[in-house]
Amino acid sequence: MTQIRKAADALAAVRRIVFFTGAGISAESGIPTFRAKLTGLWAKHDPQRLETADAFRENPALVWGWYLWRRQQAMLAEPNAAHYSISRLAKAGWEVSVVTQNIDDLHERAGVDAVVHLHGSLLGAKCSGCHRPVALQPDQLSISNEGELVEPPRCNYCNGRTRPGVVWFRENLPDNAWLSAVRLVRTCDLLISVGTSGVVRPAADLPEMAIRANATVIHVNLEDVSMGGEREIMLIGSAVQVLPELLTRLGVS
Ligand code: APR
Repeated sequence: MTQIRKAADALAAVRRIVFFTGAGISAESGIPTFRAKLTGLWAKHDPQRLETADAFRENPALVWGWYLWRRQQAMLAEPNAAHYSISRLAKAGWEVSVVTQNIDDLHERAGVDAVVHLHGSLLGAKCSGCHRPVALQPDQLSISNEGELVEPPRCNYCNGRTRPGVVWFRENLPDNAWLSAVRLVRTCDLLISVGTSGVVRPAADLPEMAIRANATVIHVNLEDVSMGGEREIMLIGSAVQVLPELLTRLGVS
């Protein structure tokens, strides 16, 4: 039996599904993945370095400019066939939840209401001093040039610098998001992991947690990222091809 047939049979036999998504699901919408090399004026920077509290302390204007640029990219991007496949499955009667590491809003824009964002959101901002959420005005969100340095706005309460509402390397995940994700994963029948390298913990532990809770895990990725377990199915290919193909096999229109 082919892997895709096996995956379709596994899906047909269950009700509660968790999609666990990473940067690969948004890649074909034009949002670069983390481990892809940056191009243009950002080419000399490493996102893994830019996305740290240390980088923000050292050069807040560089990091704020980087996030404004990423936010702008995400706003210009459109959900792709993989994002829409998830909402189509929900409409077809499966109980579908999404736990994402992505900070874009493409799942929501594809029609999924309840999305657990483990790493925060590009749309949010908070004060780096007192941690209050900050509502930004449209003129504070525009950026004209890639690579532009932009001084972050100051907090109205404590005059601290505004920082993006995302989780940086070495920061803890928001408690609520992590607890929701664990609850969903421990009670699902099937977890479908899409477009994640599975190297950033604790998010990367979720597929294994699903297996320990007796769920099946389907991986969708350009490369083999499976852990070699018996209840794992590896579908190699782009999410925009593999997920619609899976739905076709299930007869979901
Ligand atoms: N379809 C399926 N998979 C894809 C596609 C595609 N079109 N394009 C890329 N991929 C896969 C890559 O093979 C890789 O395994 O998506 C994965 C992307 O990996 P990363 O860039 O590491 O993204 P992610 O796993 O989401 O990173 C996790 O790390 O940098 C931090 O906080 C950041 O949330 C991020 C976390």
